[in-house]
Amino acid sequence: MHFQWYPGHMTKAKRMMQENIKLVDLVIELVDARIPLSSRNPDIDGLGKNKARVVLLNKADLAEEKWNVSWSRYFEDKGYLAVKVNSKKGSGMKAVQDVIGKACKEKIERDRKRGILNRPVRAMVAGIPNVGKSTFINALAGKACAKTGNKPGVTKGKQWIRLNRQVELLDTPGILWPKFEDQKVGLYLAFIGSIKDEILNTEELALEFIKLMCAEYPGVLEEKYQIGASGESYRMLEGIAKSRHCLVRGNELDTEKAAAMLLDDFRGGRLGRITLEKCGMYFSDENKD
Ligand code: G4P
Repeated sequence: MHFQWYPGHMTKAKRMMQENIKLVDLVIELVDARIPLSSRNPDIDGLGKNKARVVLLNKADLAEEKWNVSWSRYFEDKGYLAVKVNSKKGSGMKAVQDVIGKACKEKIERDRKRGILNRPVRAMVAGIPNVGKSTFINALAGKACAKTGNKPGVTKGKQWIRLNRQVELLDTPGILWPKFEDQKVGLYLAFIGSIKDEILNTEELALEFIKLMCAEYPGVLEEKYQIGASGESYRMLEGIAKSRHCLVRGNELDTEKAAAMLLDDFRGGRLGRITLEKCGMYFSDENKD
């Protein structure tokens, strides 16, 4: 399977990101807990140089807890403040507030030494499309927050959400462009739904997904769809189509429909908590540098 995807709006997103990041002290980067590295764009490290950094493992509810813990440690070892969150449910927000506070402390301290008092710390949320940025901003900011900027009498320009006395959050998230020079990264991003399905062959993608599931989570698909463990991806897809009555023209199996359903079940967490990218997978490479 080959991925080549860099839509025009990503160029615009990149420019916006470069502009906005200049305005903030703290970057809150969201990654997908199921693929914490593949859902990052390494360019953020360059862009966010000299900024306080927080990494959030979002959609932690969809990933295995033991791997969430490992990945949190991984990022902490790299010097980020890391928290696992479920933005959809709003869980983890207290911990997020705490790490933002921690990250801000250094900045406030630095300001104080320079004689600058009461300047709010400014933060922005960043991440690739669909990682949950808007959901997170809503969960963190809630409804009670007052917006600043773009109101009569207030300076025109960016909108900032005041989180508390010390922190203001840019209300529009920075969109990072996924980086999938590595085909595996492209595949992972496609599995979680970050690459539009219309540009992909759903059936082919589902077959790759079945292969991965058989290797990493043996028995899960068999149990969920009540199919035999044939070990042959296409056979298994046919089995899924059969057990879920995906049929066309009377009795023919609709494997295309079954493929879409399978991916949808995975994305919606209906196959259970699944971490596609395991922490240890990267240790050997990471140790090289
Ligand atoms: P974005 O701004 O980064 O592009 O992402 P957005 O917030 O639009 O979220 C993308 C999808 O991810 C949404 O689902 C959202 O509900 C879901 N999501 C965000 N955070 C979490 C999380 O922590 N856990 C889970 N399970 N899902 C999360 P959607 O299907 O596009 O919309 P909806 O039907 O849920 O509203």
